[in-house]
Amino acid sequence: MIPESFIQELLSRVDVVDIIDKRITLKKAGANFVACCPFHQEKTPSFTVSPSKQFYHCFGCGEHGSAISFLIEYEGLSFVEAINELANSVGLKVPNETPLKLEKNSEYVNLEDAVKTASIFYQKQLRKSPEAISYLKARGLTGQIAKEFSIGYAPEGWQNLKNVFKNYENDILIKAGLVIKNDKGKLYDRFRHRIIFPIYNDKGSVIGFGGRIINPEDTPKYYNSPETPLFQKSYELYGLLTARKSIREKGYVLVVEGYMDVVGLAQKEIKNAVATLGTATTAFHIKKLIRYTQEIIFCFDGDDAGRSAAWRAMNNSLESVTDNMQLKFLFLPDGHDPDSFIREHSVNEFELLAKEAIPLTEYIIKYLTINNDLATQEKKVKFLNEIEPIFKELNASKLSLLFKKRISELINLNLEEINQVLKTKNVYPKKNSSKLPDRLPISRVRKFCLLLILRPDLIKQEDSEFFISEDEEDKLALSIIEITKENGEYNSAMILHFLGTRFDKELIKQIHMQLSIFDDEMEMDDEINALRASIKKSHSSLINKQRLNEATKKGLDSLSEEEKDFLKNIGKG
Ligand code: UTP
Ligand code: MN
Repeated sequence: MIPESFIQELLSRVDVVDIIDKRITLKKAGANFVACCPFHQEKTPSFTVSPSKQFYHCFGCGEHGSAISFLIEYEGLSFVEAINELANSVGLKVPNETPLKLEKNSEYVNLEDAVKTASIFYQKQLRKSPEAISYLKARGLTGQIAKEFSIGYAPEGWQNLKNVFKNYENDILIKAGLVIKNDKGKLYDRFRHRIIFPIYNDKGSVIGFGGRIINPEDTPKYYNSPETPLFQKSYELYGLLTARKSIREKGYVLVVEGYMDVVGLAQKEIKNAVATLGTATTAFHIKKLIRYTQEIIFCFDGDDAGRSAAWRAMNNSLESVTDNMQLKFLFLPDGHDPDSFIREHSVNEFELLAKEAIPLTEYIIKYLTINNDLATQEKKVKFLNEIEPIFKELNASKLSLLFKKRISELINLNLEEINQVLKTKNVYPKKNSSKLPDRLPISRVRKFCLLLILRPDLIKQEDSEFFISEDEEDKLALSIIEITKENGEYNSAMILHFLGTRFDKELIKQIHMQLSIFDDEMEMDDEINALRASIKKSHSSLINKQRLNEATKKGLDSLSEEEKDFLKNIGKG
């Protein structure tokens, strides 16, 4: 674990503009720098980087953060790698990291910790199990790759996690999907005698597992974590965290069906592959992937199951397809999945297949004409009926037009005639084109907080006296004042990083947005002083009320001199 103090020091030394400008070209615009957002596709820049606030924020997709989060998101680095990279760039040495130790009876505080603790346990167990190791070896995997994907092993036995967690009975283990309660109320481990594939989210935390049998007689072949507050299958992709860098480098992503496919491909140095989690591809998946690349290649087995999975993936993806990206389909020879193909054939042959993957619209035509030679009027009508729903979903206007043209040629109609018979989606220019989000009404305390984040040098430690309620806003103000007390030097990025460790993600996102629309050149001293005075006034009546309550509860004799004074003077001013 890297000490928080070091992270703060790092954030005070690096320049976010410098870090980002080395990777994407920034243009000066007023006090800020702008660029087309690297995290979503766009033609006009809505990505801003603020040298004074030391953060970036995209008005289009809401992506935001510090130099650290930029490296994690853009380069696909892990948190520790990002810290190392930044430290190197300013000549700092990262203090010794002590590896996270798993102690028996370790405590855990939340779902995330529970899942992480289990994952470390499973990895440890893999190293102790000759059976599991030889299974993986037999499938062509090296220890290096197993480590890269944090592959683990859940041993035989019903309650191994009892030795890992102090309170095996704690509901949080059930909630995390690690433990199951049967009808009789008995608890047992979900994963037993299985190879464990941990699933990571974008931020690099383990959120769930896939578990594969070792013994061919066991069923089901794969058993996955259930949906939990951390883990939603329709949203997550296996392997994305490790694949991001390679996806950017190669310019495309392969979406495969199995965990073993991702790992098997990575073993052969094809690292730009991700897998869905035993479920169909969703529009969410597509939206997530187009943050990293404009070309998505779905890779399916050449059997019936693969063909129908491909059709389903196509239908689910249609609404997310834009004119700035390409969806393609790759079908492997019958009986093969990517993992088996690459081991029987070669990396080269596989990459050749990827090059020849069929573009979306050609795939649709091919699929609908497998059993339809379009030789009669009736067959053409059938074809048109089948293709109509696809046009209703497709948002990409250029692709939609060209596709229609192609279809008109296929069935010998002209474009005008096709337009008459095919209902298509009305493609208007995107609605949310106004770049600036509506300015939300901001509370006085919130505004004070924002100003303090921008100008920590204007914070007075006695400011903390006024924020006494349990309100989120008051807690926010207190935290900002508190961090600046502990640290000598601070800037906006440091404060934001600290708040990020304490407050809800949505709140932090909102703060970035609000800070982004603040005018940098605004005269802040006067503004802060005025706010301070007005908050002081309204809060002091609240404080008085509290003190009065306390004082009147005590008998007159037990009051301190100060309290007596207070009671005498109340109402006077
Ligand atoms: P496959 O059966 O193709 O598995 O299922 P695989 O990944 O190629 O694994 P090996 O090569 O047989 O070891 C593809 C994916 O479907 C999901 C899993 O996500 C799996 O990776 N699946 C499959 C399940 O969720 N449950 C199952 O019982 C089977
Ligand atoms: Mn397989």
